[in-house]
Amino acid sequence: MRRAVDNQLDGSDVDELMRRGLQATATTLPHPNPRVGAVIVNPQGEVVAVAAHKGPGTPHAERLALEGLDDVSGHAMVVTLEPCNHHGRTPPCTDAIIEAGISRVIVGSRDPDPLVRGAGIERLRNAGIDVVESSLSNLVEANDPVYFANRRAGTPFVTLKLAMTLDGQIAAADGTSQWITGPQARSDAQTIRAAHDAVLIGAGTLRCDDPRLTVRLEGYDGPQPRPVILKGHSQLPPKARLYERNPLVIEGTGVSGTGVDEVLDQLADAGIRSVLIEGGARIARSFLEAGAVDELVLYIGAKLAGGTGRPAIDGRFATITDAIALEITDVRTIGSDVRITAHIGGRN
Ligand SMILES: NC(=O)c1ccc[n+]([C@@H]2O[C@H](COP(=O)([O-])OP(=O)(O)OC[C@H]3O[C@@H](n4cnc5c(N)ncnc54)[C@H](OP(=O)(O)O)[C@@H]3O)[C@@H](O)[C@H]2O)c1
Repeated sequence: MRRAVDNQLDGSDVDELMRRGLQATATTLPHPNPRVGAVIVNPQGEVVAVAAHKGPGTPHAERLALEGLDDVSGHAMVVTLEPCNHHGRTPPCTDAIIEAGISRVIVGSRDPDPLVRGAGIERLRNAGIDVVESSLSNLVEANDPVYFANRRAGTPFVTLKLAMTLDGQIAAADGTSQWITGPQARSDAQTIRAAHDAVLIGAGTLRCDDPRLTVRLEGYDGPQPRPVILKGHSQLPPKARLYERNPLVIEGTGVSGTGVDEVLDQLADAGIRSVLIEGGARIARSFLEAGAVDELVLYIGAKLAGGTGRPAIDGRFATITDAIALEITDVRTIGSDVRITAHIGGRN
């Protein structure tokens, strides 16, 4: 018989505990796995464990939280994402929760992964556990938009990053663009790289910049994003630094937006669940035109270019209704530069 959890845990306590679970994930980058935090509360309402999942192959948050606790019968677990019910690299978390004797589980959000989608909750309920679904699922989703969007769509989450001058140019007329922003913004951009499975550039950027596209942050020992080169009709240069990193080369179909869906399907087939697009102007236009950009990250360098270098997005701005409406979600100063994060808000 499972002992009932003490009634002292009311709605506001549960919300507070859910926020605590989310907070535990603040510095985690477990992609392609979800960010998950778990909190265990004893029958008196006291927190006895807090844990977060760190990445593929490491224990899930639920198991980490249970580790080292002797008797958790009558305890409640607050977990930001529905516990898994399938064997991956680690055994199902539902088994661990049932075996441990947890009485009540408060779930932040259902897991959109087709392998879970409610099956974890059902398994817990069938084992006699009281499962409550939290009202903060919007916060949970906002904490890991890449995971939720990818698992729902089945194609990678797309972030488009551009570094531009204050007057909207991403390179000079001769193609040089290193560097438009300062070292702090560039290191911030590497943190964004680290949160994606792959980094994609067009053949033009490969020719002009010969980039490395690695995460070189001090102390970083996580996975390096897979480089992806989108090639059109021209030959790729015979030598490039990226070739040492086993890039995935995809034959695109030129600057028109057509073909972007096929590119996304090929990325998904390669196991890529999130991709950061790092240039250049023609690639940016293609993905925007195709409506394939989930998030936009603009670094605005404290520089004025003047004249006509290279616009951030290729194409012709013929009339005002051609502008793409954005919803700006964050603006901050990074070193001497500014970072703007936005979603595409649809055309005017
Ligand atoms: N400031 C920044 O954030 C930033 C970032 C990156 C790059 N840049 C600058 O941007 C410039 C390069 O931009 P770019 O416009 O010349 O080249 P790009 O956008 O990097 O690459 C365009 C090329 O990609 C190939 N491609 C294949 N499929 C495509 C598709 N569906 N849509 C578009 N292109 C496709 C085509 O290659 P083929 O030529 O083979 O047909 C096309 O010419 C450089 O000056 C670089 O320094 C700046």
